[in-house]
Amino acid sequence: MSSQSVITVSNLTKFYGDFKALDSVSLAVEKGWVYGYLGPNGAGKTTTIRTMLGLLKPDQGEVQITGINPTKDPVQALQSLGYAPELPTLQTFFTGEQLLDFMGKIFGLATQARKERIKQLLDLVGLKEWGDKRIGNYSKGMVQRLSIALALINDPVVLIMDEPTIGMDPEATAHFRNLFTTLSKQGKTVFISSHLLDEVQRICTHVGMINKGRMVFDGRIAQVLETFTQQWVIEAELEEVTKTMVSSLKKLDCVEDVKVDGNKLRIELKEKKDLRGEISSEIFKRKGVLLSLNLHKITLEDAYLRALKGGQ
Ligand SMILES: Nc1ncnc2c1ncn2[C@@H]1O[C@H](COP(=O)(O)OP(=O)(O)OP(=O)(O)O)[C@@H](O)[C@H]1O
Ligand SMILES: [Mg+2]
Repeated sequence: MSSQSVITVSNLTKFYGDFKALDSVSLAVEKGWVYGYLGPNGAGKTTTIRTMLGLLKPDQGEVQITGINPTKDPVQALQSLGYAPELPTLQTFFTGEQLLDFMGKIFGLATQARKERIKQLLDLVGLKEWGDKRIGNYSKGMVQRLSIALALINDPVVLIMDEPTIGMDPEATAHFRNLFTTLSKQGKTVFISSHLLDEVQRICTHVGMINKGRMVFDGRIAQVLETFTQQWVIEAELEEVTKTMVSSLKKLDCVEDVKVDGNKLRIELKEKKDLRGEISSEIFKRKGVLLSLNLHKITLEDAYLRALKGGQ
């Protein structure tokens, strides 16, 4: 693992009684990355995060966050950490400002610095009008926003969030996705667990996939797409598909196979390359009338489903 790693998880194993929830999980996250931790319900995402933070004691393995082991040294680890838990339950009788102020005091921020930071954070998470209202009156999405503001109060180097955009409306989701990217560009390291493949594909630079307590992939987003893509496919719709057209396409060096469904062709390629030019010129040469031509690029969802199958 690189010396640049801000988060290093090595062979983490965690049992709940006899049940092995994590089986030798390892991952490394470097400065400025947005790392997406993906996995189905019950895969072990929350258990990983809680164990990473020292909230659960690992049965085996070790975690280092900015070089500190949170299990052994939780107070020191907390200084550089921000954590937004899954389904946060916040003190309903406090106002947002009061809770942020309380957290600011814990981190030793002076009165004036706290005041400024709270104002800035409430603005950042879109709760400017709600700072003086009791949390008990907040909607689910607002609690989630406040939880992220709380995680940012100490201006952390590492921000760890367990499904941060769950419960947010689309506008808030887009706002927070931009925020995570901005924070990473400022040099912070962002770790988010998510079910949302689209979210991970859009904002994360790297992805870790976990299934049944085991890592099934860890790497760059582009790499996961490459690794789990078996084949690139071009889908063509023609006015009419003739036997000669199909056999001439099959004869092309770049084509593995051609499947016909009415006037549609599924052209499986030998290489992972955009070969629409070659395919369309062959169709024109054979006097075919092309209605549409699409390269079916693999999405993170395809890769994810394949990775889960492979990891079982
Ligand atoms: N306190 C606990 N006691 C016993 N088993 C638990 C406990 N917490 C979690 N588990 C089990 O460990 C496994 C991993 O749970 P975990 O909450 O880490 O999954 P997850 O990936 O976060 O799922 P989700 O997407 O639903 O949040 C599940 O099978 C769960 O039932
Ligand atoms: Mg969870």
